[in-house]
Amino acid sequence: MAASSSLSSLSTLHLQFSSQTSSTKLPASSKPFKGNSLAAHQKITATISEKPHISQPPPPSAAALTAAPSKASKLPIRKIPGDYGLPLIGPWKDRQDYFYNQGRDEFFKSRIQKYQSTVFRTNMPPGPFISFNPNVVVLLDGKSFPTLFDNDKVEKKDLFTGTYMPSVDLTGGYRTLSFLDPAEPSHAKLKKLMFFLLSYRRDHVMPEFHSCYAELFESLEKEIATKGKAGFGPANEQAAFNFLARSFYGADPNDTKLGSDGPKLVTKWVLFHLHPLLVLGLPRPIEDGILHTFPLPPFLIKKDYQRLYDFFYQNSTPVLDQAEKLGLSRDEACHNLLFTTCFNSFGGMKILFPNMLKWVGRAGAKLHSDLALEIRSAIKSNGGNVTMAAIEAMPLMKSVVYESLRIEPPVSSQYAKAKRDFVVESHDAAFQIKEGEMLYGFQPFATKDPKIFDRAEEFVPTRFIGEEGEKLLKHVVWSNGPENGAPTVNNKQCAGKDFVVLAARLLLVELFRRYDSFDIEVAASPLGASVTVTSLKRASF
Ligand code: HEM
Repeated sequence: MAASSSLSSLSTLHLQFSSQTSSTKLPASSKPFKGNSLAAHQKITATISEKPHISQPPPPSAAALTAAPSKASKLPIRKIPGDYGLPLIGPWKDRQDYFYNQGRDEFFKSRIQKYQSTVFRTNMPPGPFISFNPNVVVLLDGKSFPTLFDNDKVEKKDLFTGTYMPSVDLTGGYRTLSFLDPAEPSHAKLKKLMFFLLSYRRDHVMPEFHSCYAELFESLEKEIATKGKAGFGPANEQAAFNFLARSFYGADPNDTKLGSDGPKLVTKWVLFHLHPLLVLGLPRPIEDGILHTFPLPPFLIKKDYQRLYDFFYQNSTPVLDQAEKLGLSRDEACHNLLFTTCFNSFGGMKILFPNMLKWVGRAGAKLHSDLALEIRSAIKSNGGNVTMAAIEAMPLMKSVVYESLRIEPPVSSQYAKAKRDFVVESHDAAFQIKEGEMLYGFQPFATKDPKIFDRAEEFVPTRFIGEEGEKLLKHVVWSNGPENGAPTVNNKQCAGKDFVVLAARLLLVELFRRYDSFDIEVAASPLGASVTVTSLKRASF
């Protein structure tokens, strides 16, 4: 069918980031160096971006990753343990445990212990009066979790943020792509538009990343020189927003009316979506009594949102032209471009980058020098250019990115509603799910499942190197699907999956071509880690 072949070509096209045209030069200060102790490491070849887009094997279906059909299963069917408590009181009690009495990890761990099961019933926040049905079946192991990706079994309509749906007044009156199920006609059109955006601008990604993040590191260096330390978060937000605007739209926000206000406006707007789920450190009567109980009125953010909308509308003409060809209105397309760029992309980078810096920073000087050696050697072998081919020759760096995404997936919660009755299997038992039941997965428990990963709680930089390492990539599911799978118009896997992996790799490349090592301090924050850089040791070889 013509329509479906054009869909599939678009859905693979975006994955091709040119290895020739997009390159950045090694800074003149970087000197040649000898030897690479990592040369013996095998290449990781399993990511889709590195394979030719023709003759790809079909990605594994979610069904193939989940439990075998119950008929073939030897596991006993067990009643799902746990209960929801009394109306209003049960959800309120679970919310207090989740946010305050126990905290998120202990909330889940203690219930696994109590029920002796990684599948059980509970309420998820926020509950009344924001969500009136907070009852879920929780999946907390790597075997049951991929059920959430199986579109034959589950529906993903209006549950991007969980058991409540933020007001569409926050998004121009539209339900944006993230809230649409693949069965809804607009899902394919809008996802095609995102694939178009990524493919149309792909040659700009590497040069713009280099330019925005070189600027970030220069500003950190200056701040460290004067104050002895520099916050990574605010600088990263500015760099990420500029990078996205420049690489996706060819527009530098600083040359427009938006100026440097983008990150601040987006953070406020995202808060209007997510406040029911965040611990902001405010007095409990305000935080829990108000922000976890009632939705903030969207009119309070209308003016700020309009400023963002104007920026996107004025700078996305070719993409909006394409949207019309796909049968979308310019207005709906623009609200979706804003959402994908600001919520999905900026929001994701705001969490992923500090988290990755935290894990790599904590891993210490030996990993830093191994990375610097590998990265600089590969760039040198590529004539001093950062190209896709050069990145291919950095197996340790690539493994470190996957390990960061495994140990702390940036978006930790996923929801899906059962379309029909079916059986879910954990490692120990099988459970009957009824049509209409809400399933919830807390992803870090699935990607730190000790039955799948050795030393699951540890950051193991070399974990994904070599053939055995590659086999584990199917259990890395930060993108709402397996790392060896691909986003399509028929699934809910992150449209920016390969873009994100590339951007994370480019961060490490930029860092270790400039510095031999670095030191950080880490504190908690409502979204991701708060990282302060206390030293950057300039490249000495
Ligand atoms: C670190 C950055 C990112 C992270 C962690 C991330 C994560 C995710 C996750 C977990 C989902 C699925 C949510 C769910 O349905 O439960 C998702 C969906 C999505 N992401 Fe990303 N994402 C990131 C960056 C991006 C980028 C750069 C794009 C740009 C195109 C993008 C576009 C989308 C879209 C359009 C969807 C909805 C897909 C659909 O409805 O089929 N994301 N993302």
